[in-house]
Amino acid sequence: MTRIKPHGGELINRLVPAEHREEFLKIAASLKQIRVNSWTISDLDLIAVGAFSPLIGFLDEANYNTVVETMRLTDGTVWSIPITLSIPPDIAASITIGEQVALVGEEDGVPYAILDTTSIYKVDQVNEAVKVFKTDDTAHPGVNKLFSRSSTNIGGPIQMLNRPKPKKFEEFYYDPSETRRIFAENGWKTVVGFQTRNPVHRAHEYIQKSAMEIVDALFLNPLVGETKSDDISADVRMKSYLVLLENYYPKNRTHLGVYPAAMRYAGPREAILHAIVRRNYGCTHFIVGRDHAGVGDYYGTYEAQEIFSGFTADELGITPLFFEHSFYCTKCGNMASSKTCPHDKSYHMHLSGTKVRGLLRDGQCPPPEFTRQEVAQVLIEGLRDPDYHV
Ligand code: ADX
Repeated sequence: MTRIKPHGGELINRLVPAEHREEFLKIAASLKQIRVNSWTISDLDLIAVGAFSPLIGFLDEANYNTVVETMRLTDGTVWSIPITLSIPPDIAASITIGEQVALVGEEDGVPYAILDTTSIYKVDQVNEAVKVFKTDDTAHPGVNKLFSRSSTNIGGPIQMLNRPKPKKFEEFYYDPSETRRIFAENGWKTVVGFQTRNPVHRAHEYIQKSAMEIVDALFLNPLVGETKSDDISADVRMKSYLVLLENYYPKNRTHLGVYPAAMRYAGPREAILHAIVRRNYGCTHFIVGRDHAGVGDYYGTYEAQEIFSGFTADELGITPLFFEHSFYCTKCGNMASSKTCPHDKSYHMHLSGTKVRGLLRDGQCPPPEFTRQEVAQVLIEGLRDPDYHV
């Protein structure tokens, strides 16, 4: 059976083989240490296991420039979001090109990777913000994050010595090589990937199941890395996905695995990244609905779909499946979109995120037409948890 090729042709593997680990750990201990946060550690891991194929490290200056300006690497491969490592300028000044440095967790002191420095460069953060996020408004969470970092980047290939350990739901962490094997073992020729940073509500379920009608299986691939503080926590969401799958999805045509990346909120550009990553996980199709990876009003409702027309099918390799804004129509008596429902807006159920959160916080289930009651119960319990902040 021919499988979808990873982006760039090969699944990248930058994990140091077990037999060389001790030797590399000794080398790392002798190198200059750069402290990295959990966001960078998650990028490192995604590079190392090939989820970010064809990247083998953090972007150097030339690739950074082409990614920001043209959404491509210097060799022309499509890449829409700069995956970079920013470091304080005084530390950058102490490093020379060609030097190996150790990337060490700022909280746990674990040496995660060795980086071969090929490039040290200063970036124009405002230009990056405007090109990548389409705004330099610091109220945008992605822009805010970018501006909070140093504008000096270090680039080069990495080798991963230690991988971050999931705190919970470890059994749902699969590397791209594993999901590819699982899809093949199940005999799935076509798999649709679904990105989400939210609980799966009825609209999500509707577009997933519409897609499932034309492919062999669904890969539910929620993002569980860093998100903004008012998004529902990954732990609570994971519980809600499990209860939903258990009750409403066919087990032999559904696979749940996490995407341990940080959310950038870059709308259209992030939709391209999300599609490429799901291709690397072995998906042949990818769902892009309304305002994919968007936040606030920064992007048009369908901008994250329109951006795909700038690339050929061959360049992306994965087929995007576009869905209109979906809702429950009280007159149709089912889920619908403007493509299938002739009724006016007064029949369409609409609940804002704020309203839904308010209901859940008050211990009330949103209507079953909006969210499955089993899901709502999990979310209500999650919000009651004293460790949980909204
Ligand atoms: S995202 O930031 O991860 O994109 P979210 O979890 O809300 O946010 O969305 C997951 C996917 O479902 C995205 O492709 C998004 O466009 C799509 N989506 C969310 N809500 C709707 C809706 N009501 N109608 C159509 N598509 C939707």
